[in-house]
Formats: sequence, C-alpha cells, structure tokens
Amino acid sequence: MWDYSEKVMDHYRNPRNVGKIDDADAIGNAGSLTCGDQLKIYLKIKDGIVTDAKFQTFGCGSAVASSSILTEMIIGKSVEDVRKITNKDIADELGGLPPEKMHCSVMGYEALEDALKGYVDKDDLNDALDEVNDNKVEEKIVCTCFGVTENLIWEAIKQNGLKTVEEVTNYTKAGGACGKCKSAIQDIIDTYYNKEKKEKDDEVKLSPAQKILKINSIIENRISPELQKDGGDITLVDIDGDRVLVRLRGRCSGCRNSNLTLKSFVESSLREAVDKNIEVIEVN
Ligand code: FES
Repeated sequence: MWDYSEKVMDHYRNPRNVGKIDDADAIGNAGSLTCGDQLKIYLKIKDGIVTDAKFQTFGCGSAVASSSILTEMIIGKSVEDVRKITNKDIADELGGLPPEKMHCSVMGYEALEDALKGYVDKDDLNDALDEVNDNKVEEKIVCTCFGVTENLIWEAIKQNGLKTVEEVTNYTKAGGACGKCKSAIQDIIDTYYNKEKKEKDDEVKLSPAQKILKINSIIENRISPELQKDGGDITLVDIDGDRVLVRLRGRCSGCRNSNLTLKSFVESSLREAVDKNIEVIEVN
C-alpha cells in the first residue's frame, strides 16, 4: 500500500477543474490508454494569463490528484510562469508522491508542455511560427512499449536528479515492460551526468583573474553594443565574487520600467558566458 499525503487524498477524492473547455486556446495530451494512464488538459488564455484550466484523465488516484492540483497551480499565472513548472513542482505541491507514482507528476508536466508547445500568442504568431519551423526536430522514442521520448527521459533526469534506470522507470514508465530499452536509458543517464560534469569542470577552470577579464570582455564586446543600438550603454563598476556591479547610462539609466528586463538580459548573458551564479546589481 502506498503512503499518500493528505493533499493527494483530498485532490483524489474531490478533484478540482474536471472536464473540458470547448473553446480552449491550448490543449495538451500525455500518456495513452494502452499504457494505463492518459491525461488531457485544456487551457483558456487571455492576455498571456491562464484564466481557466480543466482536465480529463484516465488513471490511478495519483494521476487524478496530480492533474487536479496542476490546474489549481496554473490558473491565474502567466504563460511564461506556467512554462517554468516542472514535475517536481507538481509533486512538491501535493506534499510528495511515492517514488513509484512520480510518473503521474511527469504526465502532468508532459501534458502541460504539449499544450503550450501548440499555443501561440496571436500577437507573436509570425515570430513563433518561424521559431517552430527553425527548431523542428524529430522526437526520438526510446521506450517503444510506453512511447517515451529521449527528451522526456532527459527532462525527468534533469528536474529530479535521477541516477538509476529504476528511478527513470518510476518517473516515466520507460523500461517498465519488456526492458529492451534499459541500456538506452542508462546511456542517457551517463550522457547527462558526463555533460554536467564537463560543465562543472569548465566552470572551475576560470581563475578569479580570468573571470574578471571574461566579464569585462562580455560587457564591452557583447552587452554594450546591444544597448548602444537603443541609445543606452553600460559600465562595469566593480566585481565582488559573483556580484557584478554595473551602471546603466544614456537612455537605459532613466528607463525604470525596462530596468528589470535589462538586468535580466545582462545577467543571463553573463551567466551563459561566464558563470551561472553571477548576480547583476545596478548602482547609481
Ligand atoms: S521498450 Fe521500454 S520497456 Fe519495452
């Protein structure tokens, strides 16, 4: 007998937002009846905010509870924030799920991802279509018994720190039938952790002096030219460990509304190029 939290039992006994939205702006599917669980999620979106969400599911109590809480988690949130929700967030919101039932939270994440993959804000339609066409890649199925893709296994490993094939099976079902895909799952685990180790090794290779030089160079050669295009500019004031103090100049300095966007642009550029722990602070 699994050990369920009170919240799981509550959402299982009294599921919220069950049903369908006839004029939904986005619909996502995950699982299949032949695999034992299936979830369909419907979203109503207005001005970039999820105003309503409903679901239909065929599955166990954990699948019902995961779907139910997911709808509560996303109603009222921006599409941007909803895109950041992981299966771990769903399980955490339920007060946890037994390891063998974590695949239910993954199914919720997968259905949400599927819905938002197909959702395009009407204002950004052309840009988004171009991007979709540019990024179109065939999804590789690793587990044919359950139709689980390489991408889903990779995301489950990344979001939940999975280290063994058994854990991947608990979270995605992949490997839980004939077992033929187990060596492919192990390869994905190995590739993920080798990549992570390489990224960590690359990070520690920079000495403090090299880090300062690199930050300076990224600001001068990459960030500053971008800001100059809009009549602004940026100056590096100081570097204190991972804290990078900058001063915005020209049009950027008086633009209070766009400062958050600017800060996140500068921060994400430096995190990507130098160190993911960098924090950017604007000074006068
Ligand atoms: S191919 Fe994955 S369990 Fe059969």
